[in-house]
Amino acid sequence: MRIADLPTPALLLHAERLDANLRRMAERARALGVRLRPHLKTHKCVEVARRQRDYGASGVTVATLTEATVFADHGFDDVTWAFPVVLSRVDEARALAERVTLRLTVDSAQAVEALERTGFPFHVWLKVDCGYHRAGVDPAHPDTLGLIRRLAASATLRLDGLLTHSGHAYHEPTLDGRRRVAEQERRAVADLRARLASEGIVVEASVGSTPAMTAVTSLDGVTEARPGNYAFYDGMQVALGTCQPADVAVTVLATVVSAPAGIDHVVTDAGALALSKDTGGTAPAHYGTVLTVDGAPIPGAVVRGVSQEHGLVTTPLGVGDRVQIVPNHSCLTVACHDEYAVMHGDQVVDRWTIWRGR
Ligand SMILES: Cc1ncc(COP(=O)(O)O)c(C=O)c1O
Repeated sequence: MRIADLPTPALLLHAERLDANLRRMAERARALGVRLRPHLKTHKCVEVARRQRDYGASGVTVATLTEATVFADHGFDDVTWAFPVVLSRVDEARALAERVTLRLTVDSAQAVEALERTGFPFHVWLKVDCGYHRAGVDPAHPDTLGLIRRLAASATLRLDGLLTHSGHAYHEPTLDGRRRVAEQERRAVADLRARLASEGIVVEASVGSTPAMTAVTSLDGVTEARPGNYAFYDGMQVALGTCQPADVAVTVLATVVSAPAGIDHVVTDAGALALSKDTGGTAPAHYGTVLTVDGAPIPGAVVRGVSQEHGLVTTPLGVGDRVQIVPNHSCLTVACHDEYAVMHGDQVVDRWTIWRGR
């Protein structure tokens, strides 16, 4: 099937770009001397994860227990659930941990106590806040060492290490800024890890975000990285300078369904439920960059507005015309769809399932 024959809205996965992105990050992790444990929440797709494994990923990272279960069911037997453990899901987590290595994430004494009460030898990572200030313990807080010592001495739990995420690298428009955040992230876990080693507590250290991983120059003292978005990139990464426009591996194929006379927009069938409502910090705000159906840039063309199914585009197009849209945030766009149309050039060569769920 060719792109022109696809029903829309459809999520296109450009396989050659994907492959280049996966290879590049695998090489980067190797050069930096860390294992790669990619975050799969970006793609939620078994076929993509297999390719990441083929490029040398050791283990995978997920955001939800459903993702953990799906990938476990497809042969991924070492899974980090890099989200503060949801105490209402501990029984499910235990059932999964009985058949694969499932590594949980904690950042509170309450979560540690709840896991200990199960009597099950869960692997746990302690989440450390490296400056993003979303979740995680402050590495400099006096209670932090106490919590780590308690975990290390636990008769039940197995402390894997210190895990952090430099989400604030997305707020840094310059390479220098992202480098600074990446170094801050490295030090947050490497320094604490060295301090623990001096007490005889030997742990791993896990970092990762795509903008930090593409900027970082040293990961000394770190053992693994968990970037996710790099598989596809998106408009936000292009704007940051983390990738080139030609690296973005997913686009949404849409059809113009209405071109009302006297109104300065046309309507496509890719609205919020095909793109997400993420504006990616664009100013003036938009919901994606519009390309021709063949993927060529159209200067200034963006999705100016969305409602649930409608996408408003200001480019003069006619009913029945098709366009590709570069999402601002590919992780959220992917989560709107059930499958990828896998493209080689303009040929649809396969369909891959997107495993949604929480
Ligand atoms: C805990 C954690 N680790 C790693 C990542 C991967 O970050 P990115 O998608 O920027 O590579 C994320 C993404 O939000 C995350 O929440």
